[in-house]
Amino acid sequence: MEQRQELYAGKAKSVFATDDPDHLILHFRDDTSAFDGERMESLARKGKVNNCFNAYIMEQLAAAGIPTHFVQRLSDTESVVKKLDMIPVECVVRNLAAGGLVKRLGVEEGQALNPPTFELFLKNDALHDPMINESLAETFGWATPAQLAEMKALTFRVNDVLKQLFADGGLLLVDYKLEFGLFQGEIVLGDEFSPDGCRLWDAKTREKLDKDRFRQGLGGVIEAYEEVGRRIGVRFD
Ligand code: ADP
Ligand code: CDP
Repeated sequence: MEQRQELYAGKAKSVFATDDPDHLILHFRDDTSAFDGERMESLARKGKVNNCFNAYIMEQLAAAGIPTHFVQRLSDTESVVKKLDMIPVECVVRNLAAGGLVKRLGVEEGQALNPPTFELFLKNDALHDPMINESLAETFGWATPAQLAEMKALTFRVNDVLKQLFADGGLLLVDYKLEFGLFQGEIVLGDEFSPDGCRLWDAKTREKLDKDRFRQGLGGVIEAYEEVGRRIGVRFD
């Protein structure tokens, strides 16, 4: 497969066209952003670590029957994916209270959420990804009710698979964000799943092993991503 022009440079990944109109190359860069791009830093090895992490998770999800865009890892920092028409809505599931939920509702960090919650956010950096709901998504044409129902069902199926996978590595999957898109009319999981877009705590000590280490200036960010990866069976070579 031949790489063609850069289509988009996001905060952490760059997207390239290929000679096949149905496929793209995602390049995972070392760039790390927080607070809607307000804080940017380059962290050595991050592109490679997240590319390997994402490939492993996407393969686990595909094996569990979840449709994903992932095709194959191309190099340390690049993967081939199906080209999706992205739906500009982020789906967030939470198993434990943290981050924005704690700030918004004043609940205690670490409180177990039964049943797990499901939230929608508009993917729009300039507006700081505001929280939305099904009604707004339908009215403004971001997604149809049928698409939203499918995205919600898939997001919870991902929770079943990944909660167990991380639990087997002694980790709590606190929360995570997924993005979906359309491929030939079908809803498919896109973007990435890595410690950049989820919260993972050590099950015993509740030590944070995800991007909160960067957001909160705790240090050891990539070392934590590697530790999580090792515990669930990701190979970084
Ligand atoms: P951001 O856009 O939030 O800065 P990234 O740096 O991760 O995020 O950029 C990657 C971009 O590629 C995102 O906008 C994401 O929605 C988009 N994307 C991810 N997977 C696909 C795909 N399979 N097809 C088309 N676009 C995708
Ligand atoms: O972390 P923050 O306060 O910005 O938002 P949140 O609503 O608590 O985030 C819930 C989960 O979704 C966390 O795991 C975030 O890392 C992830 N998320 C993301 O990856 N990208 C976003 N634009 C928003 C949330």
